[in-house]
Amino acid sequence: MENKKCRIAIFASGEGSNAEAIVSHFANHNAIEVALMVCNKEKAGVYTRMEKWGIPCHYIDKKEWQPGSTGQQVLDLMRNEGVDRIVLAGFLAYIPETIVHTYEGRIVNIHPSLLPKYGGKGMWGHHVHEAVIANREAVSGITIHHVTEKLDDGGIIFQAQCQVLPDETPESLATRIHQLEHEHYPRIIEQLGMMDV
Ligand code: GAR
Repeated sequence: MENKKCRIAIFASGEGSNAEAIVSHFANHNAIEVALMVCNKEKAGVYTRMEKWGIPCHYIDKKEWQPGSTGQQVLDLMRNEGVDRIVLAGFLAYIPETIVHTYEGRIVNIHPSLLPKYGGKGMWGHHVHEAVIANREAVSGITIHHVTEKLDDGGIIFQAQCQVLPDETPESLATRIHQLEHEHYPRIIEQLGMMDV
């Protein structure tokens, strides 16, 4: 009998380029599969990207993503779908502590800066790149880290750097950061997922 694959749930809120890089990486993988995608927005680019690959999409509205929420709807979905690991890929909502605790050590995030720099409340997407450029940083990069109840604070698994060029714009920096993310995030998730099989 075939061994059970490690089943991943991707949580995303926006364009979903990381989500797609991950799905594409595991499309024919013998030990890891993307089971589903969860989104906290009714409309987002990530739906089209997931549908193209036949990944089931679940919209879960904002009531679930509040401090004090039991997270039960998400936890039931994860249990019913046999999800082993959660991967945040541009997911911009608060994650209830019950979910973080249930998946402790098995929930990771990617952040578009070299944490602990440019992390915390309000620091996401283009806000990060704007702040990096405004502060005339010479380098920026990406951080893949464990998720804890404290925002952008979990143990760092991997970082990669890129230069911030003299004529950099938030858009040009975002493009290079995305390239780094797509290159490394699927590979790191694979290393983590292989620990389960
Ligand atoms: C990515 O750059 C990711 O690092 C960032 O949002 C972008 C999502 O892009 N995440 C955060 O800022 C989390 N604090 P995508 O939707 O194309 O994957």
